[in-house]
Amino acid sequence: MLSGGRLVDGTGAGARLADVLVSGGRVTAIEPPGPPRPGWTTLPVAGLVVAPGFIDVHSHADASPFLAADDVSKLSQGVTTEVVGNCGFSLAPRAPGGGSWERQFQARLFPETRWSGHSFEALQGAADRRGYVTNMAPLVGHGALRAAVLGEHHRAPSPAELRAMRQLLAESLTAGAFGLSSGLIYPPSMFGAPDELQALCAVLPPRAVYATHMRDEGRGVLDAIREALAVARAAGCELEISHHKVSGRHNWGRSRETLAELARGRDEGVRVDQDAYPYCASSTMLSVLLPPEWMRGDEGAIRARLRDPVAVAELETHIGDDRDRWESHVRACGWDGIRIAATPSHGWEGRSLAEVAAELAVSPTAALAQVLAEEGLRVQAILWSMDEDDVLRVLADRHTMIGSDGLPVGFGGRPHPRLWGTFPRVLSHYVRERRLLSMEAAVHKMTGLPARKFGLTGRGVVAVGAVADLTVFAPDTVRDRADFDDGTRPPEGIRWVLLAGAVALRDGVPVPGRMGQRLRPDWAGAGPVPAQDAAGP
Ligand code: ZN
Ligand code: CU
Repeated sequence: MLSGGRLVDGTGAGARLADVLVSGGRVTAIEPPGPPRPGWTTLPVAGLVVAPGFIDVHSHADASPFLAADDVSKLSQGVTTEVVGNCGFSLAPRAPGGGSWERQFQARLFPETRWSGHSFEALQGAADRRGYVTNMAPLVGHGALRAAVLGEHHRAPSPAELRAMRQLLAESLTAGAFGLSSGLIYPPSMFGAPDELQALCAVLPPRAVYATHMRDEGRGVLDAIREALAVARAAGCELEISHHKVSGRHNWGRSRETLAELARGRDEGVRVDQDAYPYCASSTMLSVLLPPEWMRGDEGAIRARLRDPVAVAELETHIGDDRDRWESHVRACGWDGIRIAATPSHGWEGRSLAEVAAELAVSPTAALAQVLAEEGLRVQAILWSMDEDDVLRVLADRHTMIGSDGLPVGFGGRPHPRLWGTFPRVLSHYVRERRLLSMEAAVHKMTGLPARKFGLTGRGVVAVGAVADLTVFAPDTVRDRADFDDGTRPPEGIRWVLLAGAVALRDGVPVPGRMGQRLRPDWAGAGPVPAQDAAGP
């Protein structure tokens, strides 16, 4: 039993003092505080908050089961469940005997796994055997579907190819996927048109989630929201706007418009929510600085372009052209606002592109091209693209859940601190210091709200009968310690984490072993996943 804590139950209801009794992996009673009961193991948690385990709705920890070392980046933050497969990237499905392009696609985001199967079902089976530090709820990536069917061909699919993508998606849903994700700034997902996404989302059961990293988070952000709303409206599925932000100095303040547009979509019947992380900098592959047409072809073709001085001169003009429909991140952040986080050689880590250019005595564009070419495009960057007022406005919105968007562990370097700091930072910086959110509201965004969104009945709330995924933290001292100079420092003040009643974090220290499990959406089995529909239209 957890004795004498302050219960914040995940529903958004007010905190209250309570004893929480756990048995057989579930919460069996919630009672007014009393003396320890004979025969029960007692965790004295007076002065601490007892909350449902946090749910990271935007994780990229797909490969963590396959890593030799336990990935405790999320567990240390009080996270008990991660939704993986985001931004169009998932480790499966793959084409049987998948080509080198497909391997390059996977290698851009994920560390090497040595998993060599191809179906989504086989991937889940293999991950199940390796075990999970936290519970996993997997999505299927649109990029993976496209890579599996179209390989390196960045064109529209033929009717037969579209049928094949729908079939793979239907099979993945049958094997336990929670929905589909897209990453519409990354190849190959970016080459998918709205009607393709709509045809795929039509395969989703009504409660499955379409999570989208939108085509544009800058100047064209409203159009991008409208595209996402239209896709979800036509398909009738749940919609989630991934890591909602307004990117670029000249767009700052426009979260008023974007949140209003999302509210309008809701009024029109689209079940849309969004997630966000509590930082003003984003992080992704450095190659997003290249215009879409530069991303065509395989890695060899892209590297050849990067090494061609004529092409690089054209790139320089392109990046500097404000009238272009494609809006470069350079305009959004400035060269000094883009920092290299991790490279395979570990060269240039921690330095801005302005600094790299000065050191190489070349233009920033030439420095960008050189680093990408030398490091085989596998470069992670941190981009200071947001204004804190927008971040505050998005975090405060009733429909915003918390998602770390942490890039996978395993690359080293100087990763964005969100990987190790997101959840404690919301509690320390935005609840305790800035008073943007009440503790109850913040916990709800991390628990009850995402559990409902993803069909995780029996989780995300502390209630009698609920699964005992619990997080206990010190409300006055909990804080993130990861920052932009050292992004991997674990937080402070997260004291206990229970996974289905088993202690996974003891007094702030991860307990060895993998106690998580793969979760299934509560709607699975409630009706046939429309595999037959996958033959149409
Ligand atoms: Zn993304
Ligand atoms: Cu992401």
